[in-house]
Amino acid sequence: MASVAHRLFRTKSADEIVAEGGHGEGGELRRTMTLWQLTLFSVGATLGTGIFVILGQAVPKAGPAVVAAFVLAAITALFSALSYAELAGTIPVSGSSYSYAYATLGELVAWVCGWCLMLEYAVSVAAVAVGWGEYLNHFLQDLFGWQLPDSITHSPGDQGGVINLTAILIVVLATWLLLRGASESATANAIFVLIKIAVLVFFCVVAFTAFSAGNLTPFAPMGIAGITAAASQVFFSYIGFDAASTAGEEAKNPKRDLPLAIILSLVIVTIVYVAVALAAVGAMPWQQFDPDTTEASLALIADLATGSTWAGIIISFGAVIAIASVVLTVLYGQTRILFAMSRDGLIPKIFEKVNPRRQVPVANTLIVAAFVSVLAGFIPLGQLAEATSIGTLFAFAIVNVGVLVLRRTRPDLPRSFRTPLFPITPILGVIFCIIVMLGLAGVTWLAFAIWILVGLLAYFLYGYRHSRLNRSVR
Ligand code: ALA
Repeated sequence: MASVAHRLFRTKSADEIVAEGGHGEGGELRRTMTLWQLTLFSVGATLGTGIFVILGQAVPKAGPAVVAAFVLAAITALFSALSYAELAGTIPVSGSSYSYAYATLGELVAWVCGWCLMLEYAVSVAAVAVGWGEYLNHFLQDLFGWQLPDSITHSPGDQGGVINLTAILIVVLATWLLLRGASESATANAIFVLIKIAVLVFFCVVAFTAFSAGNLTPFAPMGIAGITAAASQVFFSYIGFDAASTAGEEAKNPKRDLPLAIILSLVIVTIVYVAVALAAVGAMPWQQFDPDTTEASLALIADLATGSTWAGIIISFGAVIAIASVVLTVLYGQTRILFAMSRDGLIPKIFEKVNPRRQVPVANTLIVAAFVSVLAGFIPLGQLAEATSIGTLFAFAIVNVGVLVLRRTRPDLPRSFRTPLFPITPILGVIFCIIVMLGLAGVTWLAFAIWILVGLLAYFLYGYRHSRLNRSVR
């Protein structure tokens, strides 16, 4: 009988993972996505609540140097993006870092990684959906002069909220689109992404008309500590650049396109974020950003710059579209990760059932949507966003370690992309992830510890016994 340690650290060979890619019970995923669609898919998962809502909340921490915080967060993301690109080009399946960990660090780490990805995907969809509801309300207020009642737009205990129905509404809409099939969703996503980039460019143009260099001095009133604290907070806005790695089995040419899509999407969002952040703090003195009242800070700045509400209406409409597309893409990503985990026997089989007619994992999508709706309806944005960041950073750190391990254990594997300056980049990737994690609140660390403990319990009660690798263990 194999020892427990052997079972915990058994790996699934990279060749095996690639060979079984795309197959679920009842059908296969369709290979329809091009490089362009994959890149827009990642950008769609990334540009959202972070830039529209969290930028405004981070300014009081760093002052105008919030721009530097975005650069610092981008550097952190970049090291991990290179590692993602290498692994996505080597093991181009749909499970993202979960599959990479399974091939490199063993089943237990893969499980922890998959469990963290639920923070990166399911919990972040909830966070993003809450942000969407806020912008929808701002839009209604600016356009028609009325708002939905607090009781259905906030979570319990937050400004008279009972249940955040607006956040649940966008989750339901996105689920409906996903159930219609991935390629239709990819087209819808591409349109959304182009609209939101156009709206952010519009914001930059409007804000730069009110730009005053005086607003940028002193540049870093809270010093380096302020910049790192803000970087931890705005890191949320970069989460999602890796989303293409969850669509490996729906990509037409995954080995070539996945690494490119991951890096391209990070470059695109970084350029947009730095420009938007600079325009924002150049147009409005940083002291006027109030974390409690400037949720729609970009719309507010546009109003200030134009002296009227028309620009603000365009921006809030854009935010509603932008954030909707994040919900769509990230929800999709979560279902594909669960698909991969189910195929490995670590979670129940229902998650890998593909509806033969629609070629979509229907039950999986509905279960994820129900879970996300509960979180979105009852937990406030700040807590959801921090939980998302800590889980994501942990998963990113594992991916960086995965690159280091796979180069040693399987130097022979064909790699369509190799991270430059190896091993410095993945090592820096791990270090940067830890630095940004340390900037998150104590309560977030506590929630994370509880989450991991629950995950380990679930693994030992279910996954350990049902793992498909058990079949090959003698
Ligand atoms: N990066 C995503 C957003 O900002 C999660 O909405």
